[in-house]
Amino acid sequence: MTVLELRNVTKCYPSAEGVETLTILHNVNLTLGPGESLAVVGPSGSGKSTLLNLMGSLDRPTNGQVLLEGQDLTQIAEPELAALRNRRIGFVFQSHYLLPQCSVLENVLVPTLVCAETALRKTAEERARRWLDKVGLSERLAHRPAQLSGGERQRVAVVRALINEPRILLADEPTGALDTASAKAWATCCPVESGRKNHFSSGDACARIGGAHGTGDGIARGAGEGVGGRRDA
Ligand SMILES: Nc1ncnc2c1ncn2[C@@H]1O[C@H](COP(=O)(O)OP(=O)(O)OP(=O)(O)O)[C@@H](O)[C@H]1O
Ligand SMILES: [Mg+2]
Repeated sequence: MTVLELRNVTKCYPSAEGVETLTILHNVNLTLGPGESLAVVGPSGSGKSTLLNLMGSLDRPTNGQVLLEGQDLTQIAEPELAALRNRRIGFVFQSHYLLPQCSVLENVLVPTLVCAETALRKTAEERARRWLDKVGLSERLAHRPAQLSGGERQRVAVVRALINEPRILLADEPTGALDTASAKAWATCCPVESGRKNHFSSGDACARIGGAHGTGDGIARGAGEGVGGRRDA
């Protein structure tokens, strides 16, 4: 079964002058199956974050469909969409958006506060402590984000993204601020990539925006006419 599918997704913005249309994504088709990992690489401004936002229903396409386990997200209104995101999609943002006044442990637990599943909420703190320990942050539970290094903040963001055991994890340059060793640690907390299934079940998927700009454009696995900055007159 497909976890996530994009069908003929196009995203356009009006140009600043408003006289022409800037096409960022043009007829992108891709599928992400259970246990699959997908990396999207490309130059700055080519549309990677735009694509990830559409995959996670944070933005709506100009044309096309985004299906999560067969359900077309473009047809769902807020706040139902917000509840669906909270429960089934994990995000690691390019700039982590950790809450500055909250501790590491509290930041990780934020998505569980509005989670509708009682069983997941009840076990959240135990899970958070275990996974923070796994990514080497057991000595930093009470630290505020400002007291952490950039890589430590990214690790907190990853654990927060996984805390509600989502069906899909979307990560925008998750290892951009990490050294090689810490980037490898990302693999241990992203079991789809490492082949381990201790956080994700076998039915989950992962899409990741790579930090390797310029090493090749486009989508590493999947079909799409283009991720790029085409201009349509
Ligand atoms: N709201 C908007 N209105 C107009 N143009 C936009 C808007 N949002 C993004 N763009 C344009 O879309 C293009 C793709 O942006 P996006 O953030 O997806 O790039 P990216 O590949 O993630 O880049 P980076 O590697 O620098 O993060 C950019 O050229 C940007 O100027
Ligand atoms: Mg980006």
